[in-house]
Amino acid sequence: MAIPESFVQTIIDRADIVDVVSRYVKLRKSGANYFGLCPFHGEKTPSFSVSPDKQIFHCFGCSEGGGVISFIMKIESLNFQEAVKFLADMYGLEMPENDADDEGRRRRERMLALNKEAARFFHATLNSEIGMGAMEYFRNRGLSNRTITNFGLGFAPESWDALTGAMLRKGFTKTELSDAGLASKNKSGGIYDRFRNRVMFPIIDVRGNVIAFGGRVLDDSLPKYINSSDTLVYNKSRNLFAINIAKKTKRKNFILAEGYMDVIALHQAGFDNAIASLGTAFTPEQARLIARFKDEVVICYDSDEAGQKATARAMEILQKNAINVRVLKVPNAKDPDEFIKKNGAVGFEKLLEKPQVGNEYRLSVIKNKHNLDIDEEKIAYMKEAINYVAGIYSDVEREIYARNIAADTGVSAAAVIKEIEKTRNSKGRRDRKAYEKDAASPVKNSQPKSRELKYENVRSAKCEEGVLAIILKNDEFIPKTMEKLTSEMFSSDFLGKIYETIVGKYNEHESISLHGIVNFLEPVESAHITSLCTTYRYPANGLENALDDCIDTIRTEYIKRNSEEQDPMLELIRKKKEWGK
Ligand code: CTP
Ligand code: MN
Repeated sequence: MAIPESFVQTIIDRADIVDVVSRYVKLRKSGANYFGLCPFHGEKTPSFSVSPDKQIFHCFGCSEGGGVISFIMKIESLNFQEAVKFLADMYGLEMPENDADDEGRRRRERMLALNKEAARFFHATLNSEIGMGAMEYFRNRGLSNRTITNFGLGFAPESWDALTGAMLRKGFTKTELSDAGLASKNKSGGIYDRFRNRVMFPIIDVRGNVIAFGGRVLDDSLPKYINSSDTLVYNKSRNLFAINIAKKTKRKNFILAEGYMDVIALHQAGFDNAIASLGTAFTPEQARLIARFKDEVVICYDSDEAGQKATARAMEILQKNAINVRVLKVPNAKDPDEFIKKNGAVGFEKLLEKPQVGNEYRLSVIKNKHNLDIDEEKIAYMKEAINYVAGIYSDVEREIYARNIAADTGVSAAAVIKEIEKTRNSKGRRDRKAYEKDAASPVKNSQPKSRELKYENVRSAKCEEGVLAIILKNDEFIPKTMEKLTSEMFSSDFLGKIYETIVGKYNEHESISLHGIVNFLEPVESAHITSLCTTYRYPANGLENALDDCIDTIRTEYIKRNSEEQDPMLELIRKKKEWGK
């Protein structure tokens, strides 16, 4: 492919599918998805859906579907390259010149290795004599040895060359150190340690790679934190601190905090579902990362004004990605870290029992913006609140909020409810029902709609579909699946090809997502795989068992096929031998 994959990935990340599709199709939100009239077949009632969460489109009428690039290919009748170029133009992105992708991969791997060594170095330094002061700092903040080890915390000594020296001796180059953001360059071409006299927090991605660092001063000097800037392996808007640990939690949701210390204190207190957005404004990419694991988030930002503003923003982004939001404002403390210090794990657990529903929180923010003693403001409040409530999915919730608005303004509840239902497009509900019905019904046809993809072995292919649907949603299962399954064992070439792509991406530490894959397929293929993932019924529990069953069937069918396909000559000889006995 002439276009480097990394650039295609940039396009996919940048070109939000709702934004792109809505330039061609009038979309209306209904539940977590958007609906409109399908541009690929004539219809009067909307069955064309777009999922902001999965970044795919799918038509329940004609089964067309795919990612943002396939959408442009179809609607503009372009080939893959042209569609990428088209989207690049749409978003003002420069197409890169030919880029050696292999070289990029090698450099990424080296950088990950360097980060890992650096984390080891910082951690060892913390545990050495030089790290005594830092160790005392962590102790004063209440961290146990176990917590320090769990998070791989460390110390960067007061020195210009402690880390660089140690890493150069391990065979890393000056350029590698400065590219990784661990060292800075001076005018004469030399390099020096970037993190000095700071306690160190490694930032680790979903798969356990150390991708960046944050470093904090041990006193009140400024800047309080310095963080790695974005590098080949780190994009701060796409990662969440402690996601590598929190993804394994047995708790039903994630707690989203602001800072390193908040998360660490929460984990130490037993809340192993805490993650942090690390001071940056929360992003849609972070929401999508969360959506891979949980459908509910409790936002627990700092209680100051900045924290509360950031809460509103994060909440909106999370809800757009179909994640339920609750909001927890810690009373009489500036942040969760301080709250836990004062009230312990028990105190926090109590707060967690009844966090404010996100919608309630948002409505209270809307209300506080207006002075309800003034009629004009009252009307403005009504308008804004009604508009907000109209977008809420649950009938019950809408009615409750309608009553609150009525009470706040002295307008009759009936009038408010009527206004809300008017705002709410009556059609929206019908679309949602249709979608729910469709999503709940089993995959009707055993064969793909397109003849080109006809399955030879339906029994195996159904399980192959199952494996793909499951590992695309949960990449934790990939290593285990890889141990038992090779793409050769797939009866369907097309499904095997997708499996190979996933394994390849996994091996190269690239993120795995449906939209990252459908965009690289032929249109019929991307339509089929999108349809599969949209309609696949994930077992509510026992996903892993379902996966195991699928793998077993595929292997059994593979072995059967192979023994049937044995060389006929060999078969003849074997039989003759038997008869000769
Ligand atoms: N942050 C940053 N750079 C700064 C200040 C803050 O990157 N100069 C990020 C850090 O990730 C920090 C988070 O924003 O953890 C929240 O900031 P703040 O509330 O100031 O820090 P705390 O996490 O409360 O840190 P501490 O308790 O150590 O003071
Ligand atoms: Mn804080």
